[in-house]
Amino acid sequence: MKFSKLVVTGAQGQLGQALRAQFVDQEVIAWDSRALDICQLEYVRKALNQIQPDLVLNAAAFTQVDQAEIQQEAAYRGNALGPRNLALATHEMNIPLVHFSTDYVFDGRQARPYHEFDCPNPQSVYGQSKLAGEEAVQRNNPKHFIVRTAWLYHIIGKNFPQTILRLANQGHIRVVNDQFGSPTYCPHLARAVSRLIETESYGTYHLAGSGGTSWYEFTKFLYQTRGIQAEVTPITTAEYPLPAPRPPYAILTSIQDPAITLPAWEEGVREFSVDCTGSN
Ligand SMILES: NC(=O)c1ccc[n+]([C@@H]2O[C@H](COP(=O)([O-])OP(=O)(O)OC[C@H]3O[C@@H](n4cnc5c(N)ncnc54)[C@H](OP(=O)(O)O)[C@@H]3O)[C@@H](O)[C@H]2O)c1
Repeated sequence: MKFSKLVVTGAQGQLGQALRAQFVDQEVIAWDSRALDICQLEYVRKALNQIQPDLVLNAAAFTQVDQAEIQQEAAYRGNALGPRNLALATHEMNIPLVHFSTDYVFDGRQARPYHEFDCPNPQSVYGQSKLAGEEAVQRNNPKHFIVRTAWLYHIIGKNFPQTILRLANQGHIRVVNDQFGSPTYCPHLARAVSRLIETESYGTYHLAGSGGTSWYEFTKFLYQTRGIQAEVTPITTAEYPLPAPRPPYAILTSIQDPAITLPAWEEGVREFSVDCTGSN
């Protein structure tokens, strides 16, 4: 199905901006958190009814993983109540909702990549609130695409590659080498989503950079691609403790629609690198 009028919520976030850039051939109404707080059901209903879109893409979320351990209620509001509101309002209008979730719904104890039918078992408040959001979307709008993704980054916004590029000036950096995931360049995800929504095959999908790696190998590859000489030392999670537990192994794969895959994560790094140079 072709869509002509789309709403993007959380439009100032890194994924929100990639989605806005992807759908240039459609009319895109981009709402940041000031234009629409997705936690306010009546505002959500009113705003969508005024616009009459034919699809909503929800890139809004409470994404501060460690802060979620402290601000539990805020995390559930942003990650479960907000998506529930969007699901209710889009269902009332009989339009599909695209909602984004995370590899952190898994505990990471499996020894092979996670597909869509593996059982979630989130270990952090962030992961638990995101799973609650998935369930709320499933319950309240059958026309849903739930897209689980991972390790997002973009040339705009706060993310891991931006941080380690900044830290490269120190000449030496220590990076965790016992957590594995699927680095995903936001424009690659946005492109895959544009193909997914045409299918009308509603459900839950894993869309992330193909293959998988550790934060350490990711850093080494990024520095190599950018020609950065800084020394990178592998460390363990125990040597870099954080408030929220991370899944040690959460590489994502898809058996739901193998035709819609993202490029290899290394390709994402190469494109990011070129785009960074272009934006300087
Ligand atoms: N980042 C990752 O590595 C990653 C990994 C897996 C999945 N995901 C998922 O992918 C999606 C996009 O993540 P992202 O990295 O693009 O996040 P992001 O850059 O942190 O952007 C999230 C946006 O949501 C907005 N927002 C927060 N609460 C809101 C509310 N109540 N109403 C409206 N807008 C609200 C924020 O606005 P303010 O800043 O103004 O609050 C922010 O612009 C999320 O669902 C996230 O859980 C992310």
